[in-house]
Amino acid sequence: NTIDLEKEFQRKLDAEEKIEPKDWMPDDYRKTLIRQISQHAHSEIVGMLPEGNWLTRAPSLRRKVAALAKVQDEAGHGLYLYSACETLGVERDDLLDQLHTGTAKYSSIFNYPTLTWADMGAIGWLVDGAAIMNQVPLCRCSYGPYARAMVRVCKEESFHQRQGYEIMLSLCKGTPEQKAMAQDALNRWWWPSIMMFGPNDADSPHTAQSMNWKIKRFTNDELRQKFIDATKPQADILGISIPDPDLKWNEKTGHYDFGAINWDEFWAVVKGNGPCNKERLATRKKAYENGAWVREAALAHAEKRKKKSAA
Ligand code: ACO
Repeated sequence: NTIDLEKEFQRKLDAEEKIEPKDWMPDDYRKTLIRQISQHAHSEIVGMLPEGNWLTRAPSLRRKVAALAKVQDEAGHGLYLYSACETLGVERDDLLDQLHTGTAKYSSIFNYPTLTWADMGAIGWLVDGAAIMNQVPLCRCSYGPYARAMVRVCKEESFHQRQGYEIMLSLCKGTPEQKAMAQDALNRWWWPSIMMFGPNDADSPHTAQSMNWKIKRFTNDELRQKFIDATKPQADILGISIPDPDLKWNEKTGHYDFGAINWDEFWAVVKGNGPCNKERLATRKKAYENGAWVREAALAHAEKRKKKSAA
């Protein structure tokens, strides 16, 4: 009966045992996971676009190889995550449809343009750095398939973060023009990266429940603070400055204080009105349409093999 099932679900959560696809779970737990995992998958796939923009213009063969590998990793992350999401009883086509019709969200960060090569450095350093901060705790998420997918994703994300930081280091040790490019990229990517963690806890409708279910292990504000604390010393090593005059070490709290976040900008981007939202969605839709023949051919091939093995 339902009470026993609920008890068993809660016992597993309390004992830090994973919830697996065939286990009983509350409807809202399932819904929350489908929402979060699908948005995460969409973010990985849309996240290929800003850097894809620079693959043909990477400044050396070595840079191009790393950039290609990174963008391919993101495709892989998206595919893992769609698969993890499908274990909850949804169809991938329906999830993609939600992305294409604008009813599913994806991370706000990918709606900003990549104007210079330094943006490849800033994205790896800041955006992937923020992603790791958010995703390492997801390796301990209560839902087994999501947690396991995150282990490999996080290993790859840390390579992405390092390749980005290394681009920044090279630029900062380069000519004054190169260092200025790195500073400009930090200026443009800092605040959007801070916003990636989502609304303040007081304005986050899902955090409390997701923490109870051990889907989230830290709140949005906790992760944002950890990220700022870790990143400020890295900016100091680069010798460039974070564009926040209120960023100051606080002896009492043992953390950096920081300035006010422009939440109007965040919500405008989330609601579809960021600098690149329309372009990103149009590119994804076109890629999906152009891939129709591949899906049809794969289905036809599978049908043919099925008939052959039945004969
Ligand atoms: N961009 C777009 N939407 C966001 C963002 C963001 N940066 N942050 C929060 N939101 C949305 C939430 O999805 C939610 O909308 P919904 O109810 O329509 O789903 C709403 O704002 C309220 O936010 P929260 O209550 O804080 O939502 P939640 O508990 O899901 O926390 C978070 C948001 C932190 C993004 C969480 O979903 C998460 O950890 N997701 C997995 C990681 C992820 O998706 N990363 C993507 C970027 S990293 C990368 O791809 C390289």
